[in-house]
Amino acid sequence: MTLYEKVVEYVDTSFKGKKTHFERAVYWIEQLLPSATEAHKIAAYAHDIERAIKGEKERDYLNPDILERHSEEGAEIMAEFLQKNGADIETINKVRHLISKHEVGGDMEQNALMDADSISYFETNAQHFVEERAKTEGYKKVKDKLDWMFNRVSSEEHRKFARENYEKWSKELEKIMN
Ligand SMILES: [Fe+2]
Ligand SMILES: [Fe+2]
Repeated sequence: MTLYEKVVEYVDTSFKGKKTHFERAVYWIEQLLPSATEAHKIAAYAHDIERAIKGEKERDYLNPDILERHSEEGAEIMAEFLQKNGADIETINKVRHLISKHEVGGDMEQNALMDADSISYFETNAQHFVEERAKTEGYKKVKDKLDWMFNRVSSEEHRKFARENYEKWSKELEKIMN
């Protein structure tokens, strides 16, 4: 089993089978960052691990303190997992670096993971926010989440991969709430 396969197994077990958001994040980081290595794929697949381990329901999902804790704790959870599984120090440091800023970005590679997360979100998660969570959490909260996930994308070039789905789900949200 490769290190990446071990990570996939760990993440899948932790999240009880929710895979598509993570698979698409891996797909997109490889598109956005042609130099992506196994460490980038690991970071993309495991970027939200904190949510599975801590079981936090992500209710206050735009709170900067919660996002920072979510990112930093996820980075530490994966560093520990990788260490236990014999990863080399460069891989551990790279994964920690990438996950620790996946919500807000930072350098070019951290931005690539953040952008991959956003593009994947619009493909795989936005529907659930619009069709389910808007009912209980309200229009504004979901609207703010869609806008935030789209606007944080670090370049116009990357934003074009998210735009169609962003517009589609924003329109659906309007329809449902009116
Ligand atoms: Fe996240
Ligand atoms: Fe994510």
